[in-house]
Amino acid sequence: SDNWKSAVSVTDIPDDDVIGISIGGHQIALYKYENEIFATDNVCTHGQALLSDGFLEDGEIECPLHQGRFCIKSGKTMCEPLTEDLKTYPARVEENQVYLLLD
Ligand code: FES
Repeated sequence: SDNWKSAVSVTDIPDDDVIGISIGGHQIALYKYENEIFATDNVCTHGQALLSDGFLEDGEIECPLHQGRFCIKSGKTMCEPLTEDLKTYPARVEENQVYLLLD
């Protein structure tokens, strides 16, 4: 539908890593994990930290500020000090371009 926004080329995201982008007024973290693309809000739900400055491991992103971890697929909090889940966005790839469904 109309809200799918062209974001980046898949090759802009290193394998098993995360980048931060600004798109349509959103700060989005884009992950490439096991050759799949995932998207979440980039700002941590616990404080003013960018998850794209954090560390991706085993499908979880670790916040650089207090080491809270979120599941990148569901946005669920995985440990303290986090209490609020992270918003996730549908992502799809067409002809090497990543598209995001933003609201
Ligand atoms: Fe992310 Fe505190 S700001 S865990």
